[in-house]
Amino acid sequence: MESDRIKWNSRFASQESFLGRRPSPFLAREIERIKVLVPGRRALDIACGEGRNSVFLATHGFRVTGLDISEVGLAKAARRAAEAGVTVEFVHADLDHVRPAGRFDLVLNFNFLQRPLIPVEVELLTPGGVLLFDTILATPAVPPTGNPDFYLRPGELLRLFAGYDGEILFHEESDAGDLPTARLMFRKKNCCPDDGM
Ligand SMILES: C[S@@+](CC[C@H](N)C(=O)[O-])C[C@H]1O[C@@H](n2cnc3c(N)ncnc32)[C@H](O)[C@@H]1O
Repeated sequence: MESDRIKWNSRFASQESFLGRRPSPFLAREIERIKVLVPGRRALDIACGEGRNSVFLATHGFRVTGLDISEVGLAKAARRAAEAGVTVEFVHADLDHVRPAGRFDLVLNFNFLQRPLIPVEVELLTPGGVLLFDTILATPAVPPTGNPDFYLRPGELLRLFAGYDGEILFHEESDAGDLPTARLMFRKKNCCPDDGM
C-alpha cells in the first residue's frame, strides 16, 4: 500500500540503520542447522527492509532474492550487499498486490505480518524447504501500540502452520528482547526421493 511505502521510506531515511546491520539473532543462531536441512541454496527474504538478513544469507552461500516496498530500504540493502562483496537480487514489490513467484529452499518472514501471504510462502517452498518466521507478538503485558492486525496473537503462529504438510521444527514465544516475539521454523514435507532435484 502506498502509505506503507511512504512510512517505511521515511523511517529508513531517518537513520543510518533502522533495524541494525547485524542479522536477526534467530537466523544467526539457526544458520548452520538450516544449511544442513535445506535441499538447495535459493532463498527469498520477504519484506527484506535494509537487507540485513539477505546479505547474511548471501555471505553463507545462498542465492537470495529480497522483496520490499521501500525503495529507500532496498537502496541501502544493495549498498550493504556491495560492501559485503555479495550479490543479492533486490526487488521492489508491494506484497499487498504482488504475490512472489518461483521456488525457494528457504523463505524468511521477519518482522512483517501479512496473514494471507503465509499459504503463498509455504507454496513457494521446494519439498524439504524451510520457512523461518519471526515477528512481534501481542501479549496482555505488551498490547499493540499500532494496528493490532500487525501483531501475532499468543499461540497463533502454531495454529497457522499446524495445517500444512510438513513439520514444525521449532517454536517459541519469548519476551526476552525489546518486544515479545513469536518464532517458528517449518520444514515442508519432502514427499519423494527425487523432490527438489
Ligand atoms: C520491520 S521492517 C522488517 C525488515 C526486515 N524483514 C528485517 O527484519 O530486517 C518491515 C518491512 O516491511 C516492509 N513492508 C511493509 N509493507 C509492505 C508491503 N505492502 N509490501 C512489501 N514490503 C512491505 C517495509 O518496507 C519494511 O522494510
